[in-house]
Amino acid sequence: MASPSHILIVSLLAFLVCATHAQLSANFYATTCPNLQSIVRSAMTQAVNNNPRNGASILRLFFHDCFVNGCDGSILLDDTSTFTGEKMARPNNRSARGFEVIDTIKTRVEAACSGIVSCADILAIAARDGVVLLNGPSWTVQLGRRDARTASQSAANSQIPAPFSPLSTLISMFAAKGLSARDMTALSGGHTIGQARCTNFRSHIYDDTNIDATFANTRKANCPNITGRGDDNLAPLDIQTPLRFGNNYYQNLVARRGLLHSDQELFNSGSQDSVVQSYSNNDGLFKSDFTAAMVRMGNISPLTGSNGEIRKNCRVVN
Ligand code: HEM
Ligand SMILES: *[C@@H]1O[C@H](CO)[C@@H](O)[C@H](O)[C@H]1NC(C)=O
Ligand SMILES: *[C@@H]1O[C@H](CO)[C@@H](O)[C@H](O)[C@H]1NC(C)=O
Repeated sequence: MASPSHILIVSLLAFLVCATHAQLSANFYATTCPNLQSIVRSAMTQAVNNNPRNGASILRLFFHDCFVNGCDGSILLDDTSTFTGEKMARPNNRSARGFEVIDTIKTRVEAACSGIVSCADILAIAARDGVVLLNGPSWTVQLGRRDARTASQSAANSQIPAPFSPLSTLISMFAAKGLSARDMTALSGGHTIGQARCTNFRSHIYDDTNIDATFANTRKANCPNITGRGDDNLAPLDIQTPLRFGNNYYQNLVARRGLLHSDQELFNSGSQDSVVQSYSNNDGLFKSDFTAAMVRMGNISPLTGSNGEIRKNCRVVN
């Protein structure tokens, strides 16, 4: 009998099933790929030993993946003559790196458990491991994301914040992904590791006033104020300990030694000054806020259930 109460119960159950599917879980591959965590950790250990910057680069890939249509592996897709992906988008072109590391991990994961683990989840675990291997905090990675069959260069161009952005734009671009201003400030602590190119900090070191003059001069030595000259020359985002994950980034900001305009915007007499100040004094607080915010960022619009696919090769749709 399809009485109103039966219909109510059936639709309630259907809703619960959908809601469950939309939820990630820590033990998603516990039975289907029990060695997943150790496979990723050992490959990341090799990659970071080989070049410590790889830990930073993979963390950034995860951020750029999640901010473009959710954490769905879309950034990993290669361009072809008939497919335009995200790799050539402005924030990624000549800049996003570490794709070979993900390929290596995927190959090993496929060898152990073929067709089970998404590239999006591999990236989420690898990002966490990169942080841990550079002496950062650990956290439990939620799993169960599936891989996109599409990518969006235009969304990559418009939804990943630029280093020239003012604080209000940084806050609103994170808000658009369901992340608070405090999450934004904590996640910007990702810049405690890794490198940036001259083209992204030139105007900050030459033309901004909210910068320590000695620091600016140090950076000018390898970044001439001529567009197109030395554009790809690198400098560490954290002048103190670029290969060690910690709150030095915030100490730099308080000393007006942020490398990017967007970094220094977090400590420029605005709403985030007090947060920066507290992280600069309390490494534990920074790390607990950072890890909680990483979990929230990893929850941005995942494909779950039967949506998307489990890619065989992270660079191409099946
Ligand atoms: C708040 C807005 C953000 C802006 C405007 C921004 C901008 C940038 C820029 C311009 C670079 C240098 C790219 C280059 O010159 O090639 C960079 C590097 C980096 N970013 Fe961000 N970023 C932001 C947030 C984040 C977040 C949330 C994370 C991760 C949690 C992150 C992690 C990194 C890492 C690790 C690097 C170094 C990558 C490497 O060395 O390969 N960034 N970012
Ligand atoms: C990406 O960078 C290459 C140089 O490596 C350049 O030739 C190309 O125009 C850039 N693509 C876009 C879409 O900006
Ligand atoms: C740097 O170059 C820009 C663009 O050419 C110019 O507007 C600016 O005045 C220069 N800054 C300094 C300090 O030379």
